[in-house]
Amino acid sequence: MTDRYAVVGNPVQHSLSPRIHAAFAAATGQRLVYETLLAPLDDFPGTVAAFFRAGGLGLNVTVPFKEQAAAWVSELDPPAAAAGAVNTIVRLQGGFRGYNTDGAGLVRDLVGNCGVGLDGARVLLLGAGGAARGAVGPLLAAGVEGLVIGNRTAARAEALAATAPAVRAGRVSGTGLDGIGGRFDLVVNATSAGLGDDAVVGVDPGVVEDAFCYDMIYARRGTVTAFCRWAQAHGARAAVDGLGMLVEQAALAFELWRGVAPATAPVLELLRRGDV
Ligand code: ATR
Repeated sequence: MTDRYAVVGNPVQHSLSPRIHAAFAAATGQRLVYETLLAPLDDFPGTVAAFFRAGGLGLNVTVPFKEQAAAWVSELDPPAAAAGAVNTIVRLQGGFRGYNTDGAGLVRDLVGNCGVGLDGARVLLLGAGGAARGAVGPLLAAGVEGLVIGNRTAARAEALAATAPAVRAGRVSGTGLDGIGGRFDLVVNATSAGLGDDAVVGVDPGVVEDAFCYDMIYARRGTVTAFCRWAQAHGARAAVDGLGMLVEQAALAFELWRGVAPATAPVLELLRRGDV
């Protein structure tokens, strides 16, 4: 039987992950199938258990199940435990291990594909939900010097800052959106605000001036995300969407499952051109 993988979510039918993993498999000569798996909102555990009972080897997990996945697995990789969210499940001999490759994927896209230097950088992270939680550890591990977490609900930003690794704690702070000031080398949007067409209301636009701006959300081909448009309009050095992060987190998952690290640049290029 061919090795089976899938991305589980709701909704999930428009996920790019099957195309990304098919491209990785073709490039590395791995024989596998990777599909979408729609789970009812009220039955993530049953859906996942049935997939693995039927012989599935691994899952990616997307909205809105990443927190539930962290509770479902039998063991957690430390970054997944820190994020409280799992985006990759690996089947073990007698259980399931949950990983979170999103934050590492973000850092790999920033450093490897975008050429952003993180060592010593001053970073503003907008948002304090699951996406932001997964990014804090990897950003700090990459040498970020100052990390300001800005969130609509200030208390959530403060709480997230308080969970930062102790050694870096002095370099991390949390605030409400209207309390953000100063200059930043990098501004990352980890809010879900761009999912609709809302501007990131309440943030002083001066914070993006000359900064490299990164939206964890990716734009449909030929479009620009609301956050990137906002950043460009206010003097950002560059504004990039999260397609590269999507490809990088997928490559890290592929490597966990198959033991082979696929090249990401060709796949990212194909996706940007809409050829895959
Ligand atoms: P995710 O897993 O995508 O991070 P989440 O955990 O629901 O989703 O978090 C959503 C984030 O987007 C939160 O930081 C939320 O701010 P609050 O904590 O104040 O709710 C932020 N967010 C959502 N809509 C927003 C908006 N219109 N303006 C600003 N921030 C918004």
